[in-house]
Amino acid sequence: MRILVTGGAGYIGSHTCVVLLEKGYDVVIIDNLSNSKLEAVRRIEKITGKTVKFYEEDCCDKEALRKIFTENQIDAVIHFAGLKAVGESVSVPLKYYENNLISTLSLVSIMKEFGCNNIIFSSSATVYGTAPAPYTEETTLTLSTTNPYGTTKLFIERILTDYCFAEKNFNAILLRYFNPVGAHESGLIGEDPNGIPNNLVPYITQTAVGKRERINVFGDDYNTPDGTGVRDYIHVMDLAEGHVASLKKFEENCGLKIYNLGTGNGYSVLEMIHGFERAIGHPLPYVIAPRRPGDLDISYAVTDKAYNELGWKAVKTLDDMCVDSMRWQNMNPNGYEE
Ligand code: NAD
Ligand code: UFG
Repeated sequence: MRILVTGGAGYIGSHTCVVLLEKGYDVVIIDNLSNSKLEAVRRIEKITGKTVKFYEEDCCDKEALRKIFTENQIDAVIHFAGLKAVGESVSVPLKYYENNLISTLSLVSIMKEFGCNNIIFSSSATVYGTAPAPYTEETTLTLSTTNPYGTTKLFIERILTDYCFAEKNFNAILLRYFNPVGAHESGLIGEDPNGIPNNLVPYITQTAVGKRERINVFGDDYNTPDGTGVRDYIHVMDLAEGHVASLKKFEENCGLKIYNLGTGNGYSVLEMIHGFERAIGHPLPYVIAPRRPGDLDISYAVTDKAYNELGWKAVKTLDDMCVDSMRWQNMNPNGYEE
């Protein structure tokens, strides 16, 4: 089975490519490298000992997609490509709507042209907006997303839902990721944020190696056991396995399916810092800072549906997440450095 992985040079895509290749799938990547480096593709090949066909193209470009589908018999698409910086999406919303929506629309229309009926889409827990946690897939979605990035995910979910309704042979699996962290155990691939990280874990790992002075804990007066924000952190390798488990659903012509990919456990910011302190063997500097606008107090998943229907559940521990993140950070202090 040949899988087109859009955004395959990125953080989650690169880890998923490794698992796909190791399980015997053929992989074709399209990535415009707007938030990634070609070196990530080389590392995928290094880990797996297999070659990957790579196209440096934009998913909004229908001609480029047509060329890829002409040159390769694609059985299914995993659509990771998208812009994902929450804060940036507030400043430049049109860039986010254009990139995330047009890339998906272009992709699906070319899939139709070539009779490819299977797509997995990278959605996000952000579609639950301000609904109270924990979230089941049946949680009613309102337009309570708190930023344009989240709204692109909500809109794309709706577009794929409508398309599945209209095209009875079309299968779309919407995977709502919680907070992906960690890295492949080789330390060869991992998360490579540009500039100052927005997300907690890369900020912690950069602080641990002295690139940042101290961690800012955004608020300690939330309605949580220690007052700091609680999230469902999931190891990126577990997440990658969740995609491969989902691919099997296409064999039964599944139509539209929606799954949360999380662990079902919430950890606070302070628990995460302490997890990293265990991994490195010494305390980390942190200060309590004001709340970050738009942040929720608690977000975590109910994960029964993915387990019951895909036979998948996250197996890695918080300590695995911390140790693997640190290995990647230590082995690649400046990321992929191209
Ligand atoms: P990432 O930025 O590392 O990877 C996305 C990749 O897509 C990058 O390599 C980028 O160059 C590429 N890309 C972006 N627009 C493109 C386009 N128009 N054409 C071709 N390539 C394009 O991000 P990630 O963390 O690996 O996230 C993957 C997906 O999962 C994204 O859709 C993201 O929104 C979603 N997601 C991520 C998180 C998270 O916290 N990392 C959480 C929920 C959902
Ligand atoms: N936090 C800090 N200090 C930091 C960064 C974050 O205290 O320097 C806190 C936040 O306030 C929050 C928690 O750490 O309580 C996690 O924050 P992240 O920025 O790592 O993650 P978010 O939960 O805000 O958002 C992430 C992705 C989104 C995605 C969402 C749900 O960035 O794209 O998970 O999947 F939509």
